[in-house]
Amino acid sequence: MVSRQGMWRVLTVLLLATLVLSGCQGHDSLNVLDPSGSAGQKQLDLIKWSFFLMCGVFAVVITIFIYVLIRFRKRKGIDVMPEQTHGSNTLEIIWTVIPIILLAVLAVPTVTYTFDLADMPREEDSIKVKVTGYQYWWEFQYEGMNIKTAQELHIPVGKKVHLEIHGKDVLHSFWVPALGGKMDVIPGRVNTMWLDAKKPGVYQGKCAELCGAGHALMDFKVIAEEQADFDKWVAQMQKPAVAQTTSQKEGEKIFMQNCLGCHAGTNPRIIGPDLNKFGTRTTIAGILPHDEQNLKKWLKDPTSVKPGTLMPKIDYLEPKEMDALVDYLMNRK
Ligand code: CUA
Repeated sequence: MVSRQGMWRVLTVLLLATLVLSGCQGHDSLNVLDPSGSAGQKQLDLIKWSFFLMCGVFAVVITIFIYVLIRFRKRKGIDVMPEQTHGSNTLEIIWTVIPIILLAVLAVPTVTYTFDLADMPREEDSIKVKVTGYQYWWEFQYEGMNIKTAQELHIPVGKKVHLEIHGKDVLHSFWVPALGGKMDVIPGRVNTMWLDAKKPGVYQGKCAELCGAGHALMDFKVIAEEQADFDKWVAQMQKPAVAQTTSQKEGEKIFMQNCLGCHAGTNPRIIGPDLNKFGTRTTIAGILPHDEQNLKKWLKDPTSVKPGTLMPKIDYLEPKEMDALVDYLMNRK
């Protein structure tokens, strides 16, 4: 008999588990169970396939278990030992063969899908993007379009995106749960994968390999748009951003003096993202909403936003200089 205290303990654990697990909700765009891409759909099919197969196994085992419990329970006056089957070759063969069959049934779709997904899309029906993982941000370079950006990967709906994945420092892992596919980012090695989005939307991406203090904040977004909107974005990205006002021009000077060493988009030894079109972004450092307040917060104390980041503190500017720098950056569109 479970004591009243024991009962309460169980209830408390269940309640806490409910609270903690419900925290997994809300981030719909991170949901593998609601895919919007071909790879994600295939992965969900495999999850369902193995889940229902295992449910069948569970049902059979539990049924036998309950039957045995009832049939052979100890009863008053009846004291019979059930027949002992230890060492039965027939039974040993049966429960060796059944798992082999189950695994074979699972292997067929798994291998088929693996080959499907390993088939890289043809050049004429895809766009190619070079992805580079850095501690703790992502760079996206569009082949043949002269576009380099960070933290936000814009893609046209319905088109396959061929990703060539590079790593600059340590191991990372590129993962967009709702679109599917997860690929290791390994310095010195080029991995490839493709993804697509079947409907427009913003899909959250994550680094899925522990890579240091800022790992949990190494987020990015995949922004899927209809072809026409994507074309508009491309055109905007290709247009050079020019500082307009006096304050922006002042900000440009401060940028040249203080930031260009790390943020020069043309430098192959670049250690910070290209900020050429910073004004078009929707986040700061990939995690904060894109506004002036957050930009100042990031500039003044980057490690309070993203632990372990290589970005140094820009806390020595006069308030006026800071305003000009922020004005310049926010207007680089
Ligand atoms: Cu990069 Cu974790």
